[in-house]
Amino acid sequence: MSKVIDGKAVSAAVLEECRTEVESLKEQGITPGLAVVLVGEDPASKVYVGSKVRTCGELGIYSQKIELPTDTTQTELLRIVDELNRDPSIHGILVQSPPPPQIDEEAIVRTIDPRKDVDGFHPENVAKLALEDASGFVPCTPAGCMRLLREAGVETQGANAVVIGRSMIVGKPMALLLMAKGVDATVTVAHSRSRDLPAICREADILVAAVGRPEMVRADWVKEGAVVIDVGINRVEDASRKSGYRLTGDVAYEEVAPKCAAITPVPGGVGPMTIAMLMKNTIAAAGREG
Ligand code: GUN
Repeated sequence: MSKVIDGKAVSAAVLEECRTEVESLKEQGITPGLAVVLVGEDPASKVYVGSKVRTCGELGIYSQKIELPTDTTQTELLRIVDELNRDPSIHGILVQSPPPPQIDEEAIVRTIDPRKDVDGFHPENVAKLALEDASGFVPCTPAGCMRLLREAGVETQGANAVVIGRSMIVGKPMALLLMAKGVDATVTVAHSRSRDLPAICREADILVAAVGRPEMVRADWVKEGAVVIDVGINRVEDASRKSGYRLTGDVAYEEVAPKCAAITPVPGGVGPMTIAMLMKNTIAAAGREG
């Protein structure tokens, strides 16, 4: 029997905390501000950016949505980031990933003022995470996963945690968070080149799937009683849906869920947490100003 970890409920609680924090900042004369930059027309990115801006509105956070054409040059994007760095009404800057191929994402991230890097992608914030220096920003999706584990009462100390995926957005920061002092998991990071991935996953008490391959994790990859966090949000064709697609995770939910102690669904698991943690980071950035 598995417990479904309700990301919508947990994110609603986080957003409620945010609402109080925004009110208290406003009493001090500070309105948190977030700039979200989207280059190009990627349909999924458009949905995410729309949700981020909408959530800002719901919390009383000032937001600026900057939509740029697919052929935007690196120079133009750098100029916009530079302007946002100098804009006192903006405390957080996020450039939606992935950008079109002519954009050097790493160079853009390095240009963002680390104090406004609410994504936690700037090398200074990556270093702070590795150093367990709490003055940096933690990437939103792994921070959301950690909050879900905490809310679900998952024992991490001494647990075997396996993270599938080594991206800078999820896999690597997730591994650092799981091995941090006080969390104390024993962490294995697996990826597309790992030998016998199913066998590695079967060792996991906590399995985090962040690969972007629909339903890759099967029932026989999962130990009985494991906790499974599914970070994947994959669009797969589905003619029975009006949109022509449905969302599915990296985990074959129907067959895996019965084996788990707890599991996150897709949608309604990790997804809503990413936005909630972005709001948290933006509020923290505004609170640190001056
Ligand atoms: N694309 C997918 N997830 C993220 C995220 O957390 N931040 C940004 N900037 N882009 C993303």
